[in-house]
Amino acid sequence: MERTFLMVKPDGVQRGLIGKIIARLEDKGFKMVAGKLVQVSQEQAKRHYAEHEGKDFYDNLVNFITSGPVFAMVWEGDDIIALSRMLMGKTNVKEAQPGTIRGDYASHTPHNLIHGSDSPESSAREIANFFEAHELVEYDKTISPWT
Ligand code: RTP
Ligand code: MG
Repeated sequence: MERTFLMVKPDGVQRGLIGKIIARLEDKGFKMVAGKLVQVSQEQAKRHYAEHEGKDFYDNLVNFITSGPVFAMVWEGDDIIALSRMLMGKTNVKEAQPGTIRGDYASHTPHNLIHGSDSPESSAREIANFFEAHELVEYDKTISPWT
């Protein structure tokens, strides 16, 4: 079973889209194992976006992600890293297909509502940047054989 770090970005929190975004992940059959509202610090943001340091959009990205609270989550499911990125849609909102979270709700590229890990290594690093081990809840969902 794979885990991923998903985060409703400040635009999604301000627009009241936390519930709709969570519903899409639940509807798909994934399991939330942790979730909390966080005001991201500069240091935490820089650790999270370390791979983008030096790129022209890096400063804007750090400013954006620290501009208001985010809803940080850990989700679990088979192939969830790839599948949740399909649900999210393309990074560039002009390429995000209708039916995806970004395709349906985002209209301006840096403000694309949700972050999702892109590999198991990123997932482990990003989860550790936001959560203590004891915040991840182990439990069974009785529906899981059907999803
Ligand atoms: P994310 O990390 O947020 O899940 O998004 P992603 O993998 O689809 O995209 P990534 O390449 O990791 O970029 C991280 C975030 O930076 C902003 N961005 N702006 N050219 C630009 O102006 C540009 N490129 C990327 C987006 O907010 C993107 O989600
Ligand atoms: Mg990324």
